[in-house]
Amino acid sequence: MRQVPFHRPSIGPDEEREVIEALRSGWITTGPKAKQFEQDFAAYVGARHALAVAHCTGALHLALFALGIGPGDEVITTPFTFTATAEVMGYLGARPVFVDIEPDTFNIDPEKIEAALASGDHRQVRALMPVHFAGQACDMDRIGAIARRHDLRIVEDAAHAVGSARVLDGRGMTRIGTIGDLSCFSFYATKNITCAEGGMITTADDALAARIAVASLHGMDRDAWKRYDSTGSWFYEIHDTGFKYNLSDVHAAIGLAQLRRADQLMSRRQAIAHAYNQAFAADPAIEVPVTVAGVEHAWHLYITRLRLDALRIDRNRFVELMRERGVGVSVHCIPLHTMDFYQRRYGYRAGQFPVAEAVYSRCFSLPIFPAMSDEDIAHVIESVLAIAREYRR
Ligand SMILES: Cc1ncc(COP(=O)(O)O)c(C=O)c1O
Repeated sequence: MRQVPFHRPSIGPDEEREVIEALRSGWITTGPKAKQFEQDFAAYVGARHALAVAHCTGALHLALFALGIGPGDEVITTPFTFTATAEVMGYLGARPVFVDIEPDTFNIDPEKIEAALASGDHRQVRALMPVHFAGQACDMDRIGAIARRHDLRIVEDAAHAVGSARVLDGRGMTRIGTIGDLSCFSFYATKNITCAEGGMITTADDALAARIAVASLHGMDRDAWKRYDSTGSWFYEIHDTGFKYNLSDVHAAIGLAQLRRADQLMSRRQAIAHAYNQAFAADPAIEVPVTVAGVEHAWHLYITRLRLDALRIDRNRFVELMRERGVGVSVHCIPLHTMDFYQRRYGYRAGQFPVAEAVYSRCFSLPIFPAMSDEDIAHVIESVLAIAREYRR
């Protein structure tokens, strides 16, 4: 039987050449390749500054740190995300304030942000952290207006959103990475472009960029990464609290090659999403991802929802049957407020965010990676349709 994994990275001769060059250069940690990757990524999204870091988790942590978020502060996000989004708030003694998602985009619901702010229960909110879930860009016009009205900063969790864009009032189609105060991207192994592990923070704010550059390497001077180079100095000063979040040149080398292919990788993802959308559109048990006017979806994830009333099996059984047919599928995401840690530490409980829970109960993610062959895509489609047919109510 054909086996289609959930993901396989697209690593080719260009990535291999870049990595070998880094390995042979005598400079394997943060250096010229990381700096080049920052410049290329800034040009790709159209950002003033791009700062390369070890992962998106570190990027989110640094972004909140740079804004001065600290003990007792609150940050609004959704529970329908990976734990990293909310985990970093805890690093700083801040509290994640969850609000529910929109049922069709899975993104934060701006009305629920307004309701949380109006409730009087959250007087310490300092920032909003929208997640562009699966690569579907959030409604940044509405979120931006809320932030301005309430004097809040915006840190975008853009882990899924390399290549996402959205039409903004007065700005036209705008790439994610140039809208909020800070945007944080992931280059984890499964992401749209990968460094194996890596992240990037983009911002237009010179002071925030300078603070992050220093904080990402132990609070040392900006150019301290050069201290073992013939052009650098052995002397360094510590200016601030710091973290060890720098990106190595070996990792950046992979990212450099990936970024050169970003458009090509993206168009293959779009083609796979299009093939799935067409194949499933007429099936009464399968709901395809929503298309939002004015949004360029990056298709990091292809999330289908089952219409459970049209089936005799639940989502978990559907996932098992897909695996029995050799198709790797996954579920994104288990709502954070249903998890032990978030319940113990912050007092959240199941039932609080019914939209996130309802989506979770019937969603699963299909393979959508550029290295899939047309036969792989056909096998995924046939598997979904065969299971839906066999178990139709
Ligand atoms: C929404 C979201 N935010 C943040 C992260 C963290 O990214 P990283 O693994 O690069 O730290 C992930 C990782 O999957 C994610 O899905």
